[in-house]
Amino acid sequence: MIHTWIFKKSEKTLILLHGTGGNEHDLIPLGDTIDSHANLLSIRGNISENGMNRFFKRIAPGIFDIESLNEETHKLHDFIEEMVKKYQLNPNQLTVVGYSNGANIAASLLFHYPDFIKQAILLHPMVPLEMEIYPHQQTRALITSGSKDPIVPNEQSMKLEKMLNERNVDTKHVQFDSGHQITHEEIRSVKAWYNG
Ligand code: MLT
Repeated sequence: MIHTWIFKKSEKTLILLHGTGGNEHDLIPLGDTIDSHANLLSIRGNISENGMNRFFKRIAPGIFDIESLNEETHKLHDFIEEMVKKYQLNPNQLTVVGYSNGANIAASLLFHYPDFIKQAILLHPMVPLEMEIYPHQQTRALITSGSKDPIVPNEQSMKLEKMLNERNVDTKHVQFDSGHQITHEEIRSVKAWYNG
């Protein structure tokens, strides 16, 4: 997969997954803000929707092509695994940070591969898919949402929180008085959770 790799000789690595229409450069400043010492692996989604990069196909806004989502989730998993081997990363120190479409595939990764990624920061996610419960043992996740988000209905973030908790993911959900954009207040809260 097309990606940017920034090696900082750290035990910790942040895996950055952009939103629809973004690319592998978008979340680098956010990654640096969350942890300026961590290595950054920022990945571009494989799908192009009228020139906009995405991590999986959709049928309409908010209606996902589940076959594409499953296929791309497996590809993303295999790619991360390949990078872990190539750069000899500590597999227990991976944090995935996804925004919007990137958060949706990150959530799918958690559902498909329990304990593969130990920490997940899901910024403005939706419920990516319904699937069997495979419980985790040592994963923690943060969900952020905006009460005025025109793309993500509030029930979606609440339902995702419930689904992760059902899988034993230690999940915290923080809602802001905001829309779909990531706010400064939200970034402060992400940092506090990451360092907590
Ligand atoms: C998605 O398609 O994954 C969500 O609707 C959010 C987005 O527009 O990226």
